Amino acid sequence: MGEMKATAIAHPNLALIKYWGKMDEVQLLPMNGSISVTLDSYFTKVTVEFSDAYDKDIATINGNEIPENTMTRLVKHLDRIRSLSGVKLKARGEAQINFPIGAGLASSSSGFAALTLAASTAAGMNLNKKELSILSRQGSGSSSRSVYGGFVEWLKGSSSEESYAAQIKDEKWWPELKDIAIVVSTSARKVDTRGGMKIAKDTSPYYSSWLENVSRDLESMRKAINDKNFTLLGKIAERNSLMMHGTAISSTPPLIYWVPETVLIMQDVLKMREDGIECYFTLDTGANIHILSMDRDVKRINERIEATGVAKSIGINGAGSGAEIIDKHLF
Ligand code: DP6
Repeated sequence: MGEMKATAIAHPNLALIKYWGKMDEVQLLPMNGSISVTLDSYFTKVTVEFSDAYDKDIATINGNEIPENTMTRLVKHLDRIRSLSGVKLKARGEAQINFPIGAGLASSSSGFAALTLAASTAAGMNLNKKELSILSRQGSGSSSRSVYGGFVEWLKGSSSEESYAAQIKDEKWWPELKDIAIVVSTSARKVDTRGGMKIAKDTSPYYSSWLENVSRDLESMRKAINDKNFTLLGKIAERNSLMMHGTAISSTPPLIYWVPETVLIMQDVLKMREDGIECYFTLDTGANIHILSMDRDVKRINERIEATGVAKSIGINGAGSGAEIIDKHLF
């Protein structure tokens, strides 16, 4: 048998309508559908090699050892791929990530999409995009969407075969739309995403309102994307994110992912709107925050954010492409 090695690139995606709560915690089936935009300048590259040279799975991210709980998730995912492909060998994996990790910037979405594509290819499987999305979903839900570029919807489905992502519009559809990702804190959150969405689903009295509202938001978001209606996209994305956080803060224990700097940026976004700069915010399970805007306003928004003095880093992304195999291996 030839070399069992492959390398893939995938981009993280930003949820415009959030995936929040699981119907099935083993298969990672979501309680609700979600919509995202795959980003362009942030990326994760992953090389995977199966070989009898390894007596256990080993992996690094940017050359560093991987924390135990993440490693457990990776090994489980490799086990899934081994059982589907019939490959029994252990693997070496290496990931390169060009954006802040574990900062609520969706590193698991690009990480698992790239890992799934690289490992399944190295194992000799030739999965189509739908199959890739289903398999990737089982590693981390949001990664099902990073298989595709542009604007993507994860259809919730009621079984594993039905729960996968599909493209709404490709990455060339709306070049004016930008995401300004602002890191205000690099310290680890107390409750991770997986734990947080379970606590919110199980304990927030607002969780049922979240579910009632989300189907309306999905419909509005599809329309906003199809019509390139930025005002609608921004308003719905911002409110959807706040509704998700509404369930989080009303959980037992309360999940407050924000730090003062997060709120400062939120207030600044509202102020910018009053000042005639149209922009909206959205945030996931962390203190860091994304500002959605049109290309023409990015420079002005950047200046305003810089002036607050709270941004540790700022990353600008447009819509990017889906997961792909690349030739150049990382090792
Ligand atoms: C708040 O995909 O990281 O970012 O499926 O447990 O791995 P697991 O969770 P993950 O959840 C992402 C949740 C979110 C919203 C979103 O990206 O849709």
